[in-house]
Formats: sequence, C-alpha cells, structure tokens
Amino acid sequence: MASERTLAIVKPDAVARGLTGTLLARIESEGLRIVALRMVRLSPREVEGFYAVHRDKPFFSPLVAFMTSGPSVLAVLEGEDAIRRWRACMGATDPMEADEGTIRRTYAESKQRNAVHGSDGPSSAAFEIGWFFRGLDLA
Ligand code: CDP
Ligand code: MG
Repeated sequence: MASERTLAIVKPDAVARGLTGTLLARIESEGLRIVALRMVRLSPREVEGFYAVHRDKPFFSPLVAFMTSGPSVLAVLEGEDAIRRWRACMGATDPMEADEGTIRRTYAESKQRNAVHGSDGPSSAAFEIGWFFRGLDLA
C-alpha cells in the first residue's frame, strides 16, 4: 500500500468547543502525518464548491450555514492507507451509528454537527486537497 494523502477538517462545532488540539493530537497518535494546516472561516462559495456533490440534498443549505458559522481547521494528512484509516478513526456520519471509540461517537453533537470531515476516496481526496491547498506548499 503506497503512501496517500487525504483532507481532514475539524468542523466549526469542534473548533468552537475547544477540541482542535485534542483532534490534531488524535490524528498524530494514529500515526498520520500532518503535512499542511490552515485555520479559516470558510465562505459560502468555498463550502458550496467543496460539498458540490451534495448540492441537491435536503441537508445542503443547513450544512452550508453550519460550515460557515465559525472557523474550521483544514489539514492534509499523509500516511500508508491514510484515506481509509482517517475515515475509520472518524466513524460513521451519524454519531448514533458510529463505533465506540471513534471521534464522531465521542464528540459529535448530531449527524450535521459531527466534528470532523475526511475524504472518502482517492479522487475526492485529490479534489478536496486541491480545493483548499492549491498552490500552497505541503511539508
Ligand atoms: O462526512 P461524511 O462523508 O461522513 O458524510 P456525507 O454523506 O458526505 O455528508 C457530508 C456532511 O453533510 C456530513 O458530514 C454532515 O455534516 C452533513 N450531513 C447532514 O447534515 N445530514 C445528513 N443527512 C447527511 C450529511
Ligand atoms: Mg462525504
């Protein structure tokens, strides 16, 4: 398995609750390397483009409102099988369905306010990293 990169986001709910350090430490404790990092309050345009695959879903408009409600932390993670490993660490989208010990089971408030994002495959990882880190140096 080759080294991969994936996009992680500490979402506004988790940043507001002071969980940024806890969650970045969790990433590192899983053996994933942080190779780029930004803290930013996303604009509606940035979120709409990032979540374009969901634009026709009923949860899209409230999702954009949530994701623009305060600062997020965007990170590029690197490691063997990083995409799958970060998704496993996060747990299922709905915290009620997430496995015990996962980030979402532990910290998510709801299916929407679910603390973290992770790319779901190689093509989405490439798109998402480019969306937020194009032209920026990765360590
Ligand atoms: O983030 P993940 O890939 O697990 O889930 P998704 O199906 O790609 O949905 C993206 C995000 O939309 C979720 O992480 C939730 O924040 C939000 N969402 C929601 O508010 N209500 C839903 N029924 C599904 C997703
Ligand atoms: Mg997704």
